[in-house]
Amino acid sequence: MKPSTPPPSNAPGLLIAFEGIDGTGKSSQIRLLAATLRGQGVAVVATREPTDGEYGRRIRALYVQRDTVSREEELALFVADRRQHVAQVIMPALAAARVVLTDRYYYSTAAYQGANGLDFEDILRQNEAFAPRPDLVLLLRIPVAEGLRRIRMNRGESPDTFEGEDYLARVVAVYDRLAGANIVRIDGLGSVDEVQARVLAAVRPLLAGRGPGV
Ligand code: TMP
Repeated sequence: MKPSTPPPSNAPGLLIAFEGIDGTGKSSQIRLLAATLRGQGVAVVATREPTDGEYGRRIRALYVQRDTVSREEELALFVADRRQHVAQVIMPALAAARVVLTDRYYYSTAAYQGANGLDFEDILRQNEAFAPRPDLVLLLRIPVAEGLRRIRMNRGESPDTFEGEDYLARVVAVYDRLAGANIVRIDGLGSVDEVQARVLAAVRPLLAGRGPGV
């Protein structure tokens, strides 16, 4: 795919997005990375999408009854949630020179709504018109069957409507097609510590020159 050119944030902070199917361990990895960075004196904002705002809450309600909205309406909700997130959380934090770690960003919309029959390149363009391009996208990869196994075992939950096996295989296929110099694919198999070492190796070059090393 031809890399597009979203607006630079023009801000002194750093934006790092964690992406991947559910069960890849994104939230544990964000928690660990945030703790490591804070231990080094780096000011970190850890955040997530869908957010806990008005649109995020409506999206969570969809998890149970996804067929109550069209795929276009679903896309519109994720984009509206992101607009708020960018304006109210991400841009202010970047302007204040924070390192922002977001659990999901617009690549999730490309992958999940793309897997639902929408054009993922259109989705990328639509988002890149208003959302700053991340300095780094860490795309955690595990096989779909392993993701589903972890959801059932670790969370004690049944997979929700975003988590059917065929659907997730299509999500992975879109993630696999994403290209860009800022995207780093990380093997999500292995222990939490092993994956954390891979995450740190990808993040370190970005932080070099920003003060204390990680
Ligand atoms: P999570 O809060 O457990 O990560 O779940 C969010 C779910 O919403 C996950 O299955 C992926 C899905 N999702 C989309 O379909 N599009 C999006 O743009 C985002 C941010 C999440």
